Amino acid sequence: MTNYHIPVMLKESIDALQIKPDGIYVDATYGGGGHSKQILAQLTTGKLIAFDRDADAVKNEVGDDNLILVNDNFSQLTKYVKLYRFMKVDGILADFGISSWQIDAAERGFSTRFDAELDMRMDKRSPLSAKDVLNTYDEAALSHLLKEYGDIINGRQLARAIIAYRTVQPFNTTFDLKKALESMASKADHNKFFAKIFQAIRIEVNQELEEIKSFLTQSDEVLNKSGRLVCISYHSLEDRLVKNYMRAGNESGDVEKDFFGNPKAGLKVITRKPLLPTEEEIKLNSRARSAKLRIAEKA
Ligand SMILES: C[S@@+](CC[C@H](N)C(=O)[O-])C[C@H]1O[C@@H](n2cnc3c(N)ncnc32)[C@H](O)[C@@H]1O
Repeated sequence: MTNYHIPVMLKESIDALQIKPDGIYVDATYGGGGHSKQILAQLTTGKLIAFDRDADAVKNEVGDDNLILVNDNFSQLTKYVKLYRFMKVDGILADFGISSWQIDAAERGFSTRFDAELDMRMDKRSPLSAKDVLNTYDEAALSHLLKEYGDIINGRQLARAIIAYRTVQPFNTTFDLKKALESMASKADHNKFFAKIFQAIRIEVNQELEEIKSFLTQSDEVLNKSGRLVCISYHSLEDRLVKNYMRAGNESGDVEKDFFGNPKAGLKVITRKPLLPTEEEIKLNSRARSAKLRIAEKA
């Protein structure tokens, strides 16, 4: 399991949940089960519902009677909480993004390092792959996703290069994509350039931001009073959504007030500024370097 994924900010995130041994908890992103194992270690009669949409992650099931592991999207949170007749839960953890396993498994197509089929689906049952995005999206859609999800300034130029490439031959592999855009990559920041492009396509393929928005709305609905929501994000788009939903209960972050002038949002922010991994953790696990942990409590 350690090879699968080293859990990030493990102690900080588990402490933040303030686990009660008989409570009901959710791990929205099971991965290698690193965070889940620590939650389970503190439960006696309590239960943990864990989600992962990747069938490979679900194979890491630790075999604990208190664990219910669901191979589905965390945007189905409310449905499963009700299905298992819990109604409400006492704490929710989400560790967004992809696992080391996913990025290091060449055939998944997430990594710029290996030549593999352009897949990038976390859930192989979902219909849209990276190949579909690159072979079918029009210039405006490609340009939009590169700018928005990859923070790429010349998104339109890159979108045109993608379309020019595919008029000659369709995209099949990750190295096709690199070939199509190689001439535009800056020599100094070659790896970063492609990492941003791959990130943008991955976010689109997996509808990551839409998933997170839906999950955050439902978290507020299913949390018991004083229940904690703990989120670890790895890029600014995720972190902004978490920050805004925790603050205001919506995507924009604008606090809505009721008739009496009281804020409508049901969550109280515990971390005004996100917690960051320590230097020691980053030294031991470079994938922790961009992590930001935010905590909120159901008011
Ligand atoms: C960073 S890893 C989590 C690692 C885990 N905390 C651990 O300690 O091993 C993120 C995991 O979330 C899963 N995931 C991402 N988006 C998801 C979604 N919308 N629904 C369910 N699982 C998702 C990925 O498949 C991946 O396994």
